[in-house]
Amino acid sequence: MAKAASPRRILAIETSCDETAAAIVQEGQQILSSVVYSQIPMHQPYGGVVPEIASRAHVQQVDVVVRLALEEAGLSLRDLSAIAVTQGPGLVGALLVGVSYAKGLAYGLNLPLIAVNHIAGHIAANHLVHPQLKKPYLCLVVSGGHSHLVSVKEDGFHLVGASQDDAAGEAFDKAARVLGLPYPGGPNLDQLARDGDQGRFRLPQPKLSGSFDFSFSGLKTAFINLVHGMQQRGEDLPRADLAASFQTAVVDQLMAKTSLALSQGSWPALTLAGGVSANSLLRKRAQALCEQLGLPLYLPPLGLTGDNAAMIGAAACWQLERQEFAGLGLNAVPGLQLQFRA
Ligand code: KG4
Ligand code: ZN
Repeated sequence: MAKAASPRRILAIETSCDETAAAIVQEGQQILSSVVYSQIPMHQPYGGVVPEIASRAHVQQVDVVVRLALEEAGLSLRDLSAIAVTQGPGLVGALLVGVSYAKGLAYGLNLPLIAVNHIAGHIAANHLVHPQLKKPYLCLVVSGGHSHLVSVKEDGFHLVGASQDDAAGEAFDKAARVLGLPYPGGPNLDQLARDGDQGRFRLPQPKLSGSFDFSFSGLKTAFINLVHGMQQRGEDLPRADLAASFQTAVVDQLMAKTSLALSQGSWPALTLAGGVSANSLLRKRAQALCEQLGLPLYLPPLGLTGDNAAMIGAAACWQLERQEFAGLGLNAVPGLQLQFRA
């Protein structure tokens, strides 16, 4: 493989779910361009992501977003130092589109190929906008498939806590669906909750005292039963109050565990990452917690909370520094786990 040139400019590609994205990131911190093609309108009629539709749309769009990313940055393929791509976790067919495209590009240009974990990308996103953010710090990563408390250190990621069942985003999406909200559920539920009474319905919290782990499945089931009970009795659903009560229960738990971890560790900062970090109540509550503790809080701007390729470029830069390259035998790994250090 060819040696990385300077300045280091990584072309990153992200196709793990329902966004086809490409970005060019310079020196791990500067976004030269970031293009996201959202497939939301294609999946909306089905109430969720249809894997085959997602794969087909990625095939159609991946080359388009890469060309746009180059154009937006005013660069050509010759100006790149490496090609990065999301290896997993995600939908296998969707991931394969990005992985195959990236391999072809890396081979054709004789550039290093970097395989990135999507969750590492979400964590790295904050470094694109907060140059003052330095490791170590505690990160609450909350997405559609993951809810983790991660200690981010110079030597890598250390697991502090994780969901024992559903991810926070998954719970939001399910609750939204039960309330009849369109896909994507989380942001729509957030919107609806703004006009609701969050104290109207008390929902159960898991008994995981002392642990940094989360659990959302009991809460989700209790919510479904509550709504179905009302429907069976022919009652009108107080949808905003239900949304606000559910959102509060999820955020209460996320914040309780984050607060517990911060009280027992010695992290100098907190960051939020992942799609659910766009949640307005979560952002507000994290702000209040950090103000109370006198701790800096770093939030991704809303454009970097959801899936994008700039975050993949940021994580890839860490790997470029470690010369951690993939071979052309690289495969997509739908259940790829974040590698934690002991
Ligand atoms: O990180 P992401 O875009 O994709 C994955 O890696 O999974 O996260 C998507 C998840 C979905 O479950 C979506 O409903 C949720 O993030 N989400 C939200 C909000 N915006 C996105 N959940 C609650 N409130 C929001 N404002
Ligand atoms: Zn994501």
